[in-house]
Amino acid sequence: MNDQASQLSFLASGTSADLFDIGGDQVVKLFRDSVSDEMIAREALTSAQAAASGVPTAAAIGRTTWDGRRAIIYPRLHGPTLMDWIRCNPIRAGWALDRMGALHGAMHRVRGGTLRSLKQVLATDITYGPASHALQRSAIAYLDRLPYGDALTHGDFHLGNVMMTSGGLVVIDWSKAAVGHPAADAVRSEMLMRFGIGPNDWVTRLWRDWAAARLRRSYAAASGVTASDISQWRPIVALAWLRARDAGRTPAFMRYLAKALAQAGLPSLR
Ligand SMILES: Nc1ncnc2c1ncn2[C@@H]1O[C@H](COP(=O)(O)OP(=O)(O)O)[C@@H](O)[C@H]1O
Ligand SMILES: [Mg+2]
Repeated sequence: MNDQASQLSFLASGTSADLFDIGGDQVVKLFRDSVSDEMIAREALTSAQAAASGVPTAAAIGRTTWDGRRAIIYPRLHGPTLMDWIRCNPIRAGWALDRMGALHGAMHRVRGGTLRSLKQVLATDITYGPASHALQRSAIAYLDRLPYGDALTHGDFHLGNVMMTSGGLVVIDWSKAAVGHPAADAVRSEMLMRFGIGPNDWVTRLWRDWAAARLRRSYAAASGVTASDISQWRPIVALAWLRARDAGRTPAFMRYLAKALAQAGLPSLR
């Protein structure tokens, strides 16, 4: 590291960035080169809009560059991610997941305003994904018939993007935000819980499936989004998931996708 970076004290790393404490109760999020300018701009803007609408989050203080790396300055949050908190408090996992579902429901009462359209994002991911042309065509026609929705959707609402602070749960990391139907965002969280990055041994898989069901229940109670809304979106969100997730194509995920496609009357993947 050179001068500017060597003054920083390392806090944490995520999939797209490294976080450092810069003093004054602020942190700098230094993005990796693979992250687009558009994602950084969206993250900064949405964090501020969500905070202004009452969503518990850290609103971006500003964008900057730090040793040539693109960065966002945030207020520092004090506490672990929900993932780390549950590791230390496994007995209270159900309680924490109930809070997380309630937070997701509250977020969806906020309007997504001028953010990019989630339906468009899903259509693009399906079009550039590995499905056959026939399946792509049927899936896009099916997606066209689903409602747009006007909710603020996060796109990456998982245990590593929620922090446990003394003031309650706080959501971070808005780079995948969009405006759309809340059920699509809920399905995405179900998939992140069950098939996302992280340990994948059979014991963890059992825990993940249990946690996803618990989250779905508490989310449904908080949001009013029904099981049938969620089922409608499952085949679309699962097909879109295939675009970027070679490693997530586990046998369990492929069974989940096949079932969702069959229930919607869509052709199978191959
Ligand atoms: N405002 C903050 N204050 C303190 N720690 C934070 C803050 N924002 C993020 N972190 C920590 O940094 C990690 C990565 O941040 P995140 O925004 O999720 O980055 P990525 O886009 O790389 O996933 C988080 O899991 C959390 O531990
Ligand atoms: Mg993150």
